Amino acid sequence: MDISIRKLEHIFLCSYCNVEYDKTTMLENVELIHRGINNINYEDINTEIKIFGKTLSAPIIVSGMTGGFSGAKEINKNIAKAVDELNLGMGVGSQRAAIINKNLIDTYSVVREYTDSLVIGNLGAVNFIVDNWGLDVVDKAIDMIDADALAIHFNPLQEIIQPEGDLNFKNVSKILEDLIKDYKKMRKTYFIAKQVGEGFSKEDAQQLKYFDAIDIQGSGGTSWAKVEYYRVKDEKRKEILKNFLNWGIPTAQSIFEVKSVYNKTIIGSGGLRSGLDIAKCIAIGCSCTSIALPILKAALKGYEKVVEVLERYIKELKITMFLVGAETIDDLKKVNYVVKEPLRGILIDRGVEL
Ligand SMILES: Cc1cc2nc3c(=O)[nH]c(=O)nc-3n(C[C@H](O)[C@H](O)[C@H](O)COP(=O)(O)O)c2cc1C
Repeated sequence: MDISIRKLEHIFLCSYCNVEYDKTTMLENVELIHRGINNINYEDINTEIKIFGKTLSAPIIVSGMTGGFSGAKEINKNIAKAVDELNLGMGVGSQRAAIINKNLIDTYSVVREYTDSLVIGNLGAVNFIVDNWGLDVVDKAIDMIDADALAIHFNPLQEIIQPEGDLNFKNVSKILEDLIKDYKKMRKTYFIAKQVGEGFSKEDAQQLKYFDAIDIQGSGGTSWAKVEYYRVKDEKRKEILKNFLNWGIPTAQSIFEVKSVYNKTIIGSGGLRSGLDIAKCIAIGCSCTSIALPILKAALKGYEKVVEVLERYIKELKITMFLVGAETIDDLKKVNYVVKEPLRGILIDRGVEL
């Protein structure tokens, strides 16, 4: 199937169907300790962070979602205008469509007409094998949007459910390690290993140490298995695939697992639906967070709606910081929390320190 049609189908399904996991992010098992005496003036709370060479007003990036069909231009424009106004970051969706067809470049590059803020490019890990991509493709993706960083997404669950999925991930980690090392000899950029809602384990993170950052994208929010499942026509195949619709590592578990073996930048993501979720991710070890589906839904209504939704997240983050006695994001990284069951037991079983 033509990539542009598939991209349009994804937006349609994410807007009109239930595409979220039945299980949760497990962030509800993390409880930040309330400070009855917080010693804070709410007006002094500062949510600013520095990441990938840019300063953001809050630790929030809109996750890479779209590009590659005509309607995507308006969505990316609305997100770019909003992140520019609020000084946050954003990613674009997989740039493969425009790598194949130059006529689609403007559906991604439009973002630079509206923002100088942090912009992250996006390519699929599997395509470095099946399409035999090399350094030139990395260059094209970065130049297309003057990207500050490049996310490479890993998505085996999505690919196996997707009717036209690519299934050869053989040696993917080693192939990318060599490529990234070579690329960095030529040109400086930040590389982010990104999931799409399936999460990374600590065993994965061990293999991803050459990346500058890991974007967790754990389970509990958008389920790409569900999105792709709606697109499968063959009933027999559906019968098999339906067992995997809730497969994946919940976001909170994935953050703890990755943190236990990886000491660079961790972005908490996958199912973040409030500023409280953002605060929890920072408290348990992330430097920043990212959000997809709620922003897509807002962007389809216009840029003002994106601003409204992001402002709500920031407000909730600030309220949480007030209640735990954190004046800055660095303070928030040091607040006390408890990990409740069942997450606690799962982490102990996994040999992950709490
Ligand atoms: C409509 C849509 C399109 C997406 N396309 C991409 C993509 O092209 N590349 C990618 O890495 N992730 C893509 N994602 C995954 C998101 O970046 C994110 O990992 C996932 O949706 C989980 O976050 P959420 O629960 O906040 O939605 C897409 C998500 C949505 C909703």
